[in-house]
Amino acid sequence: MCGIVGAVTGRNIVPVLMQGLQRLEYRGYDSCGIAVHDQGLFRARSIARVSELQAQIDASGFAGNSGIAHTRWATHGGPVIDNAHPHFSLDRQGDRRIALVHNGIIENYELIRTELKSLGYLFESQTDTEVIAHLINHLYDGDLLHAVEKAVKRLTGAFAIAVICKSEPHRMVGARLGCPLVAGLGHGENFLASDAMALSGATDQIIYLEEGDLVDVRQTSIRVVDRNGISVNRKIDTVSATAGPAELAPFRHYMQKEIFEQPGVLADTLIGSENLDAGMFGAGASEIFKQINAIRILACGSSYYAGMTAKYWIESLVGIPVSVEVASEYRYREPAVNPHALVLAISQSGETADTLAALKYAHQLGHRHSLAICNVGVSALVREAELSFLTRAGIEIGVASTKAFTTQLAALLILGLTLAKLRGHLTPEQQRLHVDALRHLPAAICRILELEPQIMAWASLFARKENALFLGRGLHYPIALEGALKLKETSYIHAEAYPAGELKHGPLALVTEDMPVVTIAPNNSLLGKLKSNMQEVRARGGQLYVFADADSMVAPSDGMHVIQLPEHHGLLSPILHVVPLQLLAYHTALARGTDIDKPRNLAKSVTVE
Ligand code: F6R
Repeated sequence: MCGIVGAVTGRNIVPVLMQGLQRLEYRGYDSCGIAVHDQGLFRARSIARVSELQAQIDASGFAGNSGIAHTRWATHGGPVIDNAHPHFSLDRQGDRRIALVHNGIIENYELIRTELKSLGYLFESQTDTEVIAHLINHLYDGDLLHAVEKAVKRLTGAFAIAVICKSEPHRMVGARLGCPLVAGLGHGENFLASDAMALSGATDQIIYLEEGDLVDVRQTSIRVVDRNGISVNRKIDTVSATAGPAELAPFRHYMQKEIFEQPGVLADTLIGSENLDAGMFGAGASEIFKQINAIRILACGSSYYAGMTAKYWIESLVGIPVSVEVASEYRYREPAVNPHALVLAISQSGETADTLAALKYAHQLGHRHSLAICNVGVSALVREAELSFLTRAGIEIGVASTKAFTTQLAALLILGLTLAKLRGHLTPEQQRLHVDALRHLPAAICRILELEPQIMAWASLFARKENALFLGRGLHYPIALEGALKLKETSYIHAEAYPAGELKHGPLALVTEDMPVVTIAPNNSLLGKLKSNMQEVRARGGQLYVFADADSMVAPSDGMHVIQLPEHHGLLSPILHVVPLQLLAYHTALARGTDIDKPRNLAKSVTVE
């Protein structure tokens, strides 16, 4: 989603800002731009890639000591040049006085826009952002920090902004509420960014600004003012994880690379879990885990499907009720509150606006105990939750979640087993068996990845289809949902997932010989019932593409295509079965020639609701 990078330095800052934009590209964007101070404010914008913006800059000799840059993911107004950031506001002489970039959504922008229009301000975009630039200009009295401070008090919604001003060339002001913003400390130069990774190579000294903070950035100082207007000292973190996206070679796309990284990142995520010690989840986890009588999971997208899988695991291992809710729904309803429930928020980024808001809402409603399962240790979600468990997937660049999803599943299985042990639901022998199976998970994934050539053959057939159905039962139903999501977001094929038992309650009407039906067929207690569902599809001429366990006894026949998965421990089955579905989506998208790592209309971190 949108990204910000800005700097105040004594050198030409354009290369650093452009490098920052490149590092933010993975988040997804549809336009980009940069503004610098060079005895006046100048900007360049593009509705193509950052590389096109770079070409414009190379051609124009654009330079400056301070500046702001942005990648935009359209919310208010389409992806056209007038809506791309930075936005300017002009002084009475018609000179550009303010340049501003913004992440987030201003909910009361129409009201402010009407007011500013009546005062004579001219709007050249349809964005909510331009009102902030004009508002700051309107309130400007010679001190940029004061103007921003007054302006943000008028805004409702969520924002992170970076602002520069023509009359204060060595200064940049930032503010955040509801959207992430970090300040970076350099030597004789200082920075702002929406994501510490954007500053990689410039600095690893990072201040994570808190809700309501304003920040006054100058060449040799950074001053943070809290929401009450008081100067505060915020902690400086040394962020080693600011390394940019790793080399792609020998892979063609980050999605493919990240699918193949799964054995390694799963092994990393499992480190320290051998004893199923509650301490892995934070201080006090042991006491909290003993007290809780239910779990309420909040998440979005793939993280939500990970939560759905966890419901099956935890209810059967621990015997306590688990409810799973889409965060964007939960945050706006009046749910019954059980103060003895653990609220579990799951997120790769830890910055997803709806998940963060849902967790905050749960706290406001009186939930006392919360846990975040997250891939980013310094994220707002981890800071908000009482307990946390970090997946160790590393930076995920591909918009479609792959290694983040399987590491979430591993973390959730560890949680289920830890709760089961702590609450006396596991015999030492069962514990040994499960831990042993977990230890073998990376090797089992390696064997699944060897199926790639067979899956590629299927993908060439799928690439010619416009619809697909995914079926699973029990704890493989969420995996079917995840498989359908992967296929639709990367290849743009319409895909739906159903619990196989639901087929004859409606979706069977869709089945014709043109409809590929992907079926997850593990050898478990539901296999017999699943086989009956498969017959229902075959009887209507539907083409079955079955991922079966080695011992599921599903043989290929006319209309029944089968790929056998190597033998594995039953509890791990969802983690293993999702990997071929990721490969199927990847290779189908490859065959259709889509922008696999940056699917249209999508963003990596959804930091607006
Ligand atoms: C799908 C995908 C999204 C994310 C969702 C939540 O492949 O990546 O559905 O899972 O936007 O993101 P996080 O996990 O960062 O909260």
